[in-house]
Amino acid sequence: MSETSFTPRVFSGIQPSGGLTLGNYLGAIKRFVSMQDEDFETVYCMVDLHAITAKLIDPAELRHNTRELAAGFIASGISPEKSILINQSQVPEHAQLAWIFNCIARMGWMGRMTQWKDKAGKNAEAASLGLFAYPALMAADILIYHATHVPVGEDQKQHLELTRDIAAKFNHDYGEDFFPITEPVIEGAATRVMSLRDGAKKMSKSDPSDASRINMTDDADTIARKIRKAKTDPDALPSELAGLDDRPEARNLVNIYAALNDQSLEDVLKDVGGQQFGTFKPALAELAVEKLAPISSEMARLMADTDEIDRILAKGAEQARVITAPILKRTYEIIGMVS
Ligand code: TYM
Repeated sequence: MSETSFTPRVFSGIQPSGGLTLGNYLGAIKRFVSMQDEDFETVYCMVDLHAITAKLIDPAELRHNTRELAAGFIASGISPEKSILINQSQVPEHAQLAWIFNCIARMGWMGRMTQWKDKAGKNAEAASLGLFAYPALMAADILIYHATHVPVGEDQKQHLELTRDIAAKFNHDYGEDFFPITEPVIEGAATRVMSLRDGAKKMSKSDPSDASRINMTDDADTIARKIRKAKTDPDALPSELAGLDDRPEARNLVNIYAALNDQSLEDVLKDVGGQQFGTFKPALAELAVEKLAPISSEMARLMADTDEIDRILAKGAEQARVITAPILKRTYEIIGMVS
């Protein structure tokens, strides 16, 4: 097959299944913002179709979460002038291509996805078919734009490998280099932010304990309290990286500090080495409030006028369809669908 060149284009998405967390911000959104000023077209998405795969969400809550996520994107620095900002269900080609990919992906590939195994748990029989097919929809999200780069946190790596497998199988089956083999970009400020209650678990909006995460909408007192109560060990902080080995909670807090302050872990340790957590935690809380408060107050301001958010998303969907409609049309032609 011949080498095809694709427009450098970034796509990424976040589920409106709950509020935004510090993990989403440091692992993904900060990188989304910086990629707007690199040589890429950028498309960022609230993936509402994904958000209904795990459990029923109250419709009013889903609508609220979707708009609040859009507000979070904009408040963090994603500009509707520089990026296409969309809600997944408003661009129907995502779901249409997902069906095609359901017929390309193999049951065995999907069954090996660790997120499927984690989320379906022991009772896979009761999980939705949508949860099983989730990664095929994710591949469609990316490939309906012929996106070449996808910035994500570490936990999405396996889904992006599957996206490459789906693209390669489609190209091979139909004998045409039609879909790009997408590059994962796993280089956010902190690609794996861990729970504040358990250094072995990732920080997640679906964790039943609210104390395990910092939400982008938490106020200053809540942020300070959660950091004060964060699990740690009794030792002082080391001044070198090796001193964080086997200290996952200490590593996580230093990592959060470094990511918020745009510093390397090594540089932070040079400054804080020798400190007890009683000193370090208030400094971290102060830094977190300093960085997050402007974002949460801008989110609140934007949420006061949801009509404006809806207008931005309607415009985004229109811009998106200029890209997605021809790609879907060509996909159908390649497959042999009569148009
Ligand atoms: P979601 O909604 O779980 O998370 C959105 C983004 O935030 C990153 N992230 C984290 N990064 C570091 N530390 C954490 N604790 C942490 N928690 C979340 C995730 O890696 C992700 O980049 N399947 C995706 C949504 C999706 C998508 C896509 C992403 C649907 N289609 C197409 C990219 C391209 C998800 O559930 O992300």
